[in-house]
Amino acid sequence: MITVKNSREIELMRESCRIAKETLEFVGKRIRAGMTTKEVDELVYKYITSCGAYPSELGYEGYPASSCVSVNEVVVHGVPSDRIILDGDIVSVDIVAEKNGYHGDCARTYLIGNVSEEKKRLVKVTEECFFKAVEGLRAGVPLYDIGYAVQTHAEANGYGVVRELTGHGIGKSMHEDPSVPNYGKRGTGMRLKAGMTICIEPMINMGTRRVFVDNSDGWTVVTADGKPAAHYENTVLIKEDGVEILTL
Ligand code: MF3
Ligand code: CO
Repeated sequence: MITVKNSREIELMRESCRIAKETLEFVGKRIRAGMTTKEVDELVYKYITSCGAYPSELGYEGYPASSCVSVNEVVVHGVPSDRIILDGDIVSVDIVAEKNGYHGDCARTYLIGNVSEEKKRLVKVTEECFFKAVEGLRAGVPLYDIGYAVQTHAEANGYGVVRELTGHGIGKSMHEDPSVPNYGKRGTGMRLKAGMTICIEPMINMGTRRVFVDNSDGWTVVTADGKPAAHYENTVLIKEDGVEILTL
């Protein structure tokens, strides 16, 4: 179901999104080589609960942790484990905070220590894909213009755009309609409405766009060629005259 939020709900979304954004600021200052992905998850749990909020991913369809911590070839949904983060890794941390019944969702890909130029470029282009997608975005714009912008920029840089996972609406549920793909045909799809809150989250692979799910945990999404992937996500409010990026 697509929901349009009223001004009271938008205030509550702002609050949850502020907590989500601050959580990643907290993590960003502490993540480093030598830590395990589980230790990153503990930081997330600690910060979100200290705000009187709940880490919505914990228990979501049986998901076992408060965050997704995805290293190098892991695209998204990396289940926190004893994997040690190494110098030169890129690590995406994706979290959702719920307060007063509303969810805020964001992800960043962190550069750990001495990262190769080609990985740095992947992370930079992935962030740029998000900003290209919100450029000119406002009520009335067709939904698939978002994916068109992401895909055009990623492919112009020689990267693969993941198809199996998409952005999404968000509000009282972590995942609401519509689904927000990172590829698509310009000028198609529903027209966005003021008051919609959606997550725009490019998932970009250095090599092939093909991915598979690791059978050992049923969650971890890995690139088919083992090359690195990056992820960047914000919750965005659609307004008559533009957007408000709630998790920046
Ligand atoms: N935060 C993710 C998203 O962007 C959702 C992760 S689902 C989980 O949609 F179960 F893995 F946590
Ligand atoms: Co997310």
